Amino acid sequence: MVLHFHFFAWRSQETSMFRKAFSRAHADPAPNADFAAYQVLRLAKAHLPGRATGDTLRLEKIPSNPDKPWSSTVFRIVGATGCVAFCKCAHGADARHRMAHEVTAAGRAAERLTHHPGCVAPRILHHDKRRAMMLMTPLQGATLGARLREVGADRVRRADFLERTGRILAAYHGTLALPAPLASAVQLERLRSPARSASASPAFAAICNRLDALKDVLLAPSHIRGHFHGDMNCANILVGRDGEVGLVDFERAGTGVLYPEIATLLIRVLCVAPETGTPKGAGMIPDDDLAAFETGYGLIRGPGFDAACLLSLARMFVRSKLLETGAQLTSHQARRRHRLIDIAARVTE
Ligand SMILES: Nc1ncnc2c1ncn2[C@@H]1O[C@H](COP(=O)(O)OP(=O)(O)O)[C@@H](O)[C@H]1O
Ligand SMILES: [Mg+2]
Repeated sequence: MVLHFHFFAWRSQETSMFRKAFSRAHADPAPNADFAAYQVLRLAKAHLPGRATGDTLRLEKIPSNPDKPWSSTVFRIVGATGCVAFCKCAHGADARHRMAHEVTAAGRAAERLTHHPGCVAPRILHHDKRRAMMLMTPLQGATLGARLREVGADRVRRADFLERTGRILAAYHGTLALPAPLASAVQLERLRSPARSASASPAFAAICNRLDALKDVLLAPSHIRGHFHGDMNCANILVGRDGEVGLVDFERAGTGVLYPEIATLLIRVLCVAPETGTPKGAGMIPDDDLAAFETGYGLIRGPGFDAACLLSLARMFVRSKLLETGAQLTSHQARRRHRLIDIAARVTE
């Protein structure tokens, strides 16, 4: 009897230890995409609304950007009737924290866009905190990048997409209209630091001179802080056939000065050449595009201030990034940097 008791006590202790260790191992954020795929299917079957667990679901992995310094995997979940959801999994050291931040920011974004017809953000269906994963509703349409490639040199349609992009960005920022001045003193002073100016080209110096002329306007008390998305690029904006625009990827969302966001977006749009739809031949942003963005965003022009002035800031922003880029680049990143330098050189001519 005694022996048996010990045996069972030991067995049950071992089992519970094993269970704990096992559940800890499985509670870790997915270390890679393959492991994530297995977890995504489990999550989808458990949490997709109205879905019988026996239904066949297919996963399609969305190709990720190799330049990203942090790591996540996105899956399109396809059922018998088509795409039913998207799932994003964060990997790496602070995966849980990044995912929690993104879920909160996505929720706020969806709320802010509620009163703006035609502007949407995904709704979070489930957040698995321990595994750093979230299930969300699918947004319709193709990325802005794909749309711009599709329409090529069709300026009217291009302008239409950029106007919509301006509109959703303003809705997200929560600015009814963004007045001049559009820059924070601190940020400008940082960009204009002597070390940078000394190593920069005459084009950079010319931009600095122009900013000097705008100084009074730019250094006025700023009321242009707000919620920024933090990663406005052509892949995070989705444009539907019916004209609906959506925003995804709130991993880097935060609050602060808004102008770098607009600057970055303009530069990224700028990297898509109207004629070819690719970065090849990029370097000019047509006035139509700027005007369309301005209209969509509700940019109020001030003295010496318009989208072209913003573009100067955007160029300066890219240049400062390029100057910042130091050692430890992968060969892909190095090629990309060369391409950006090439574009920056052409746009600042
Ligand atoms: N809810 C969604 N609806 C439609 N497409 C989405 C959705 N979430 C992500 N995507 C697609 O997946 C891509 C990658 O997602 P994203 O959240 O931007 O991940 P990453 O952080 O890797 O850039 C997006 O560019 C978009 O095309
Ligand atoms: Mg993205």
